[in-house]
Amino acid sequence: MRYLTVALAKGRLAGKAMELFEQIGISCPEMKDKSSRKLIFVNEELGMRFFLAKANDVPTYVEYGAADIGIVGKDTILEEGRKLYEVLDLKTGKCRMCVCGPESARERLNHHELIRVATKYPRIAKDYFYNRKYQTVEIIKLNGSIELAPIVGLADVIVDIVETGSTLRENGLVVLEEICGLSARMVVNQVSMKRENERISRIIREIQNQLKEEQK
Ligand code: PRP
Repeated sequence: MRYLTVALAKGRLAGKAMELFEQIGISCPEMKDKSSRKLIFVNEELGMRFFLAKANDVPTYVEYGAADIGIVGKDTILEEGRKLYEVLDLKTGKCRMCVCGPESARERLNHHELIRVATKYPRIAKDYFYNRKYQTVEIIKLNGSIELAPIVGLADVIVDIVETGSTLRENGLVVLEEICGLSARMVVNQVSMKRENERISRIIREIQNQLKEEQK
């Protein structure tokens, strides 16, 4: 039997996703050993392999078929724009992609002035401002702690993830506009979806049922 390979975005999502897999009888005890430096974990019995990767790389592994299945945030899926099937919303890691900034930036934003937007998500920001709002902006790509940008005057606003809102509050910033909702998703390689349809469909169905059970 060919291995079915699953790529998981490192971090909180991976833990949640593995819990879901376990609940449907797909476990990988090897993965729980936090001290291990192993990169790939195999469950021979089930013919499955799991590996952890940087979130941004998960869609790449899936598009090229190095992983059949990927678990990754919608933010990363939108930003990477890879060719793959998004098959399931895992309803975990829920948050929102927003335009944020100091209250004082609201007017400039509303009046379509040429503002500077700092973000880790230039593609999402560009799509939102250019294709949805028909607004010309200057986008500045950053790699983290995006909230700093308007505070130190690098940008007028930011496009970033808001979960609890506490990072914004603690830094005197507010949500100015909401772009979209986000959560963890399951993605599938387009060829695998055909070639391994039976196994993959079964996993999707069982996780769906598990999620329904949890909602009850
Ligand atoms: C994310 C995001 C915000 C924060 C939002 O950052 O970029 O900064 O979480 O969460 P909150 O609304 O619950 O405060 P992350 O911690 O992933 O690190 P980063 O700043 O390096 O992107």
